[in-house]
Amino acid sequence: MLGTDIAIDLGTSSVKIYLDGKGIILNEPSVVAYEQDTDNIVAIGHEAYAMVGRTSSKIAVVHPLCNGVISDFALAQYVIQHYLKKINGSKVVMPRVVVSVPCGITEVEKRAVVDAISASGVRKICLIEEPVAAAMGAGVDISIPHGCFVIDIGGGTTDMGVISLSGVAIARSIKMAGDAFDEAIIKMVRRKYNLLIGTRMAEEAKMAIGCVYPRKEIVTHRVKGRNMLTGLPQWADISCDEVLEALLEPAMQIIRTAQEVLEKTPPELMGDIDTDGIILTGGSALLYGFDTLISKKTKMKVFVPETPENCVAVGAGKAISFIDDMENKNYGVLNPLNAAY
Ligand SMILES: Nc1ncnc2c1ncn2[C@@H]1O[C@H](COP(=O)(O)OP(=O)(O)OP(=O)(O)O)[C@@H](O)[C@H]1O
Ligand SMILES: [Mg+2]
Repeated sequence: MLGTDIAIDLGTSSVKIYLDGKGIILNEPSVVAYEQDTDNIVAIGHEAYAMVGRTSSKIAVVHPLCNGVISDFALAQYVIQHYLKKINGSKVVMPRVVVSVPCGITEVEKRAVVDAISASGVRKICLIEEPVAAAMGAGVDISIPHGCFVIDIGGGTTDMGVISLSGVAIARSIKMAGDAFDEAIIKMVRRKYNLLIGTRMAEEAKMAIGCVYPRKEIVTHRVKGRNMLTGLPQWADISCDEVLEALLEPAMQIIRTAQEVLEKTPPELMGDIDTDGIILTGGSALLYGFDTLISKKTKMKVFVPETPENCVAVGAGKAISFIDDMENKNYGVLNPLNAAY
């Protein structure tokens, strides 16, 4: 492990770590549980995720990373250190790190990411913009003068960008993604059944029967929660059509933003995108019918890579080979201004 370089995708939903030569070696929910009185950390990752919605008043479960940006610095630093220790053991010399960040985050937000990671004793940190990493992870050669349009729909944000010549020609980031879909399901179940369900239950339903384009067959899923009128436990069998109705509005907001980006895309790049199609990545790209809906609305082909949720981490991993270029002042896809030496 000594001297091995790694890439980190600090997502709202999960932290993924890619080890050069090995691929993704860690994928854990970016969740921390801590005691509110003492600030003692009780659980991290999968263990903390199991506590979501099930804690006592003494324990809080939080996402220290929100939309690729650090919302709670101390906890985020703790999580990053915990995972780096986990993969690096007790080795003193820490690797060089490529970390993905959303487009358009501020210098202060970038610095927070760099500081949180460098506290673990990492020798060098390079930043890569998420749409660029997503395109590389999807197998696109981004160094050529040819445009490609990537939409990464994660948990907290949808990042989209037109990429050419290793750079971002135009990009947008909106806080509308998987979490918003869960919220829409919670609202629909509350309105239709007077039933209050938790975010985990809603996410389960989304993964089981969620869709943004009509499924060929009607499927149902049982959700359990509390009746808002009686206060008693209750369940309901919700159908994919009801979920479709709930998810359509947030999905259309994402598509409208994509259409705005396309409207501003220079004509030459637009021609390339029209030929190759749109690349859809991020965990929410797995939502049934998203590719079809985008394709119908934009009148373009849409391509979903095999494991869309891993594209950003894999792309950041591929960018590890650019670290040496950066040292030779041939900056490539990495952001040299933010490297910590
Ligand atoms: N099969 C599925 N169907 C629908 N949604 C899914 C599926 N699998 C995962 N998701 C959703 O994908 C989201 C997580 O995606 P991803 O891992 O790309 O997010 P992230 O990178 O952590 O977040 P962000 O990029 O917003 O910071 C979650 O909201 C999850 O519910
Ligand atoms: Mg992501």
